[in-house]
Amino acid sequence: MVMIMKSSFFKSGKSRIAFIAQCDSSFTKFCKSYSSTKGITHDVKEKKNEEKPALEQSSESKLKSSRPGMGRIAEMESAATRIGNAKSPWQRVAGTLVDIVRPIARTLKPVIFPILDAPSQRRIREAVNIDDLRTAAEKRSHAMVFGYLDSGADGERALRRSCEAYGDVELRHAVLHGVGNDDIDLRTKILGTDTKMPYFLTSCAGQRMFHGDGEIATANAAKKHGLGMTLSQLTTSTFREVREAHPEGAKALQLYVWRDKVLLKEVLDRAKEDGFTSLVLTADFSWVGNRERDTRTGFSVPPTYSYRQCVDALKAPAWTYDFVSRVPYGYKAIPGANYPAESLVDFIASQMKPDFDWKDAEWLCQEWGDIGPVALKGVASGKDAQRALETGFNSIWVSNHGGRQLEDSVATFDVLPEIRDAVGDNVEVILDGGVRRGLDVVKALARGADSVAIGRAYLFGLAAGGYNGVDKALSILSRDIYLAMGLLGCRTVAELKLKAPELLLVKKNEELREWTRGKAGVATDKILR
Ligand SMILES: Cc1cc2nc3c(=O)[nH]c(=O)nc-3n(C[C@H](O)[C@H](O)[C@H](O)COP(=O)(O)O)c2cc1C
Repeated sequence: MVMIMKSSFFKSGKSRIAFIAQCDSSFTKFCKSYSSTKGITHDVKEKKNEEKPALEQSSESKLKSSRPGMGRIAEMESAATRIGNAKSPWQRVAGTLVDIVRPIARTLKPVIFPILDAPSQRRIREAVNIDDLRTAAEKRSHAMVFGYLDSGADGERALRRSCEAYGDVELRHAVLHGVGNDDIDLRTKILGTDTKMPYFLTSCAGQRMFHGDGEIATANAAKKHGLGMTLSQLTTSTFREVREAHPEGAKALQLYVWRDKVLLKEVLDRAKEDGFTSLVLTADFSWVGNRERDTRTGFSVPPTYSYRQCVDALKAPAWTYDFVSRVPYGYKAIPGANYPAESLVDFIASQMKPDFDWKDAEWLCQEWGDIGPVALKGVASGKDAQRALETGFNSIWVSNHGGRQLEDSVATFDVLPEIRDAVGDNVEVILDGGVRRGLDVVKALARGADSVAIGRAYLFGLAAGGYNGVDKALSILSRDIYLAMGLLGCRTVAELKLKAPELLLVKKNEELREWTRGKAGVATDKILR
């Protein structure tokens, strides 16, 4: 299978598939397409010193690879050179033009950009829910970038189901409960960090692809709202930048199942140095999902500067100007990676380890030590949740990667009760997937989660207009959560959980249970609670 994955990689162009095999494959792809679309072609040799990651200070000796035969720097260099050599003459010309235009665009940015960005900022101000921010993101972004952000795997049934699952549960409201405006206190501890609300911003790769301020805009908005955030290993901002932007809340680092243990250990050491106090291992991305929408939008890595990509760039002037006027971004968590992101696609793809297993996970937990909580992200069954606890994880993160991996993967909201049953009441359970309303957060808490992570809900805001967009997304969600708690007559998360049996009406599951009993004569209460 690995061979198949690899060969298909190279068949359709190194960069493109490599991108996919990376982290959020599309993410990487995006970066490339993004750059290219914006005319930011990255010639590896010319650009590699343009923006140095904070992690590059690692000494040469620390940069050895745990893979036999080749040091990491040599590996990255050769992967970057391969990508550079594979570019067509037109890609090179277009990239060079963009490089020429960049300093001029940067100089004129204070005057031109606010004019181009004004419609997006207006849409953010007028947005009343997350769907409006999604529309605003679609209007501002390059079509490939929005497609990457918004899409799921294959025909996107898992994505749709993840969002719709919350609608299967109705709530029975209380009356005359006496809960006033100042009575609600939703403070929560998530992955060892105190937060104002029981939800937080999950790790999403390459955020500077969506908006030039990327993870820093996200961190600033999370700070304003007293929320935590998890930083992706494929961050395009440095650990330090993000930690400084939100010292109290940006304390969780997410890692992928990478092959090179020396590299993983270096990333861990740096994370500890920079003050990260919890770790998340994303385990549902060792194989890369099929994103049909990326094919439809003409997503390519590196960008081909095709007629379509150029036209789509012109249709998104604010995004394009923002992108062209910025220094090409890189993957800041990788020590020694003095390359723009697009040049590292192959390298990162080669790091993915589909055969990463429980033993590897145990090693990671041990390397992290007792610094703070360590969570397994991507759990969808009670059995895996129990195994995770035996392996050394102390927090279970129920996720299907936002429906971006396995088509028809079960909605996280649906399996939440099974996982809570499996681990008991004293283990931290986090849920993400399909959350678009504050009410979804409340339902997930009532159904067994200790906290809820949001992905696209805040990314739509980021893509719609940077900090202001994320701020708006969080304002909407927090307001909705307070409102739902008030209408339900619950002052705290603990009270909500206590009252959950009388509040939650699992309507569709009740029907299904009846149907199953009738057909098969089996009691399915345990499964469909
Ligand atoms: C654009 C994008 C990039 C993502 N990148 C990462 C990542 O780098 N690491 C990770 O663990 N999950 C990543 N995810 C998955 C999210 O962390 C989360 O599981 C998912 O988005 C939750 O679903 P939601 O978007 O419906 O809220 C990404 C998701 C999206 C949409």
